[in-house]
Amino acid sequence: MTTVDLPLLPLGLGKDLGSERGVECPGDLPPASDPDLVARAKAAKEALGEKVFVLGHHYQRDEVIQFADVTGDSFKLARDAAGRPEAEYIVFCGVHFMAESADILTAPEQKVVLPDLAAGCSMADMARLAQVEDAWDAMVDAGIADVVVPVTYMNSSADIKAFCGKHDGAVCTSSNADVALEWAFQQKGPDSKVLFLPDQHLGRNTAVLKMGYTLDDCVVWNPLKPNGGLTAEELKRAKMILWKGHCSVHGRFSEDVVDELREKIPGVNILVHPECKHEVVLKADLVGSTEFIIKTIEAAPAGSSWAIGTELNLVKRLAGQHPDKNISFLDKTVCYCSTMNRIDLPHFVWAMESLAAGKLVNVIEVDPDTEHWAKVALQRMLDLPGKSHRD
Ligand code: 13P
Ligand code: SF4
Repeated sequence: MTTVDLPLLPLGLGKDLGSERGVECPGDLPPASDPDLVARAKAAKEALGEKVFVLGHHYQRDEVIQFADVTGDSFKLARDAAGRPEAEYIVFCGVHFMAESADILTAPEQKVVLPDLAAGCSMADMARLAQVEDAWDAMVDAGIADVVVPVTYMNSSADIKAFCGKHDGAVCTSSNADVALEWAFQQKGPDSKVLFLPDQHLGRNTAVLKMGYTLDDCVVWNPLKPNGGLTAEELKRAKMILWKGHCSVHGRFSEDVVDELREKIPGVNILVHPECKHEVVLKADLVGSTEFIIKTIEAAPAGSSWAIGTELNLVKRLAGQHPDKNISFLDKTVCYCSTMNRIDLPHFVWAMESLAAGKLVNVIEVDPDTEHWAKVALQRMLDLPGKSHRD
């Protein structure tokens, strides 16, 4: 059973970047009420055949995910895209930063298409290149830049990944953040520090819960305050400089609801994504990436009870796929990722039919210099020793 008590709409989850990116809504978008949408999507996919490869992130709507050739988290999808060189078009059902990563990792002649260009990510938008460059300048002024290694979560724009590539840093995902941090802390000698972008929660949870650092070793850089709101002394003392960013979806889960559900459901297991707040993760039984969450539920015994703190499309899908397990959502309100949800059937049909008609639409193309340096940072992640990029 999925617990969805209050039908509130998520507000402000993911900024609509459509107008900012100079994008116009396609005039020929089919109406959502068109009863033939499923048949039209099938026909377009059939007509495109091997030319198209459809990727679907686990947080996508069911109506779209049914057409995905592969599903996965952001890292797996980027790798899967790279593993299909014969596909002319990669239709990415996910958000903008994921499509950028796919473009970076695929051959130049392959075109990556995002069915709605307004499918951004509020977390990725919380770290803009100019802000990160300002923060770096402040670290130069504080005399620490030569021992700081920037590490960015996959959930960031290509230019932030490129910044990390240029400054001896790397990309990480929620399933290898500990390995990436271990690597980063070895790069500049014993005084090494990490600037972790853009998700403060993943950075803090990994440093404190997986690597033995303390909360006192962490400071938060607020890009909206002069000097990040930190003194040079605070920067010098810190091991982890956490960017003040968060996921608007995972940031909503609260300790109170964990307590309530433990009271209400005897024996419930609390399973959360590391993008959740530290206080919530501390109260959880298990924490891990989207793929880890899926595998944990698959391996769980029949009759077991779970409250899951991740995006609602995935939690609902897991509940539907495992009717023998009692699966609840770890929030009292309906909380989809609104930008993930922008990829709906009308946009998917529009993109696929356009491609089938020979018309390229909504192509995501990272400029060559950004692509080069972002690839350097991505490659450093792929080369990480020991535990690889999968759970
Ligand atoms: P993963 O896909 O790496 O689990 O990240 C979660 C997320 O928030 C994706 O937008
Ligand atoms: Fe971004 Fe969070 Fe949505 Fe993922 S779930 S796309 S991190 S806002």
